[in-house]
Amino acid sequence: MDLDHVSDDLTHVLYSQADIERRLAEVGAQIDRDYAGRELLLVGVLNGAVMVMADLSRAMRSHCEMDWMAISSYGSGTQSSGVVRILKDLNTDISGRDVLVVEDIIDTGLTLSYLMSNLQSREPASLEIMTMFRKPEALQNPIDVKYVGFDIPNEFVVGYGLDYAGRYRNLNGVGTLAPHVYS
Ligand code: PRP
Repeated sequence: MDLDHVSDDLTHVLYSQADIERRLAEVGAQIDRDYAGRELLLVGVLNGAVMVMADLSRAMRSHCEMDWMAISSYGSGTQSSGVVRILKDLNTDISGRDVLVVEDIIDTGLTLSYLMSNLQSREPASLEIMTMFRKPEALQNPIDVKYVGFDIPNEFVVGYGLDYAGRYRNLNGVGTLAPHVYS
């Protein structure tokens, strides 16, 4: 779905499909250089990371494998609590593997703090993070992120995997949701 189709629901557009494609080409090329001669396992965090996983992996020129985790954050409403339950674990044994966790957004950082310590305990050869979006102002836990698509303001954003009440994930770009939609 194009951003134009929901323009009444957005106060402004942050990044178009073309902006995202351009940035992922750069990040994909950087990953190819950094992992030359090694085969990465990309770990996508469902549901939001589906779009970035599909586009990032195709922007890369090297072979990679993909696996998925589904997690649920305990807590109310839109705020992440940092207490995380694994709904679907990896199918892959990551011990000795080069692992890159792929996320759509880092907001408070609480979800990834939990996930990274969980994955680290499985003794991968290396463990890094790629996130399409990051909200530096919302970060509560310092997280070492190797690849960031875009740093964005601390606003309610939707599109490109990011939802509000399950909708807008399939927008081809990202915009700020208008208050009349959620108030
Ligand atoms: C989003 C996103 C991250 C998490 C980031 O997932 O995909 O996993 O929130 O928030 P945090 O940095 O504050 O912990 P969400 O729980 O909305 O599930 P979804 O991917 O299914 O949309």
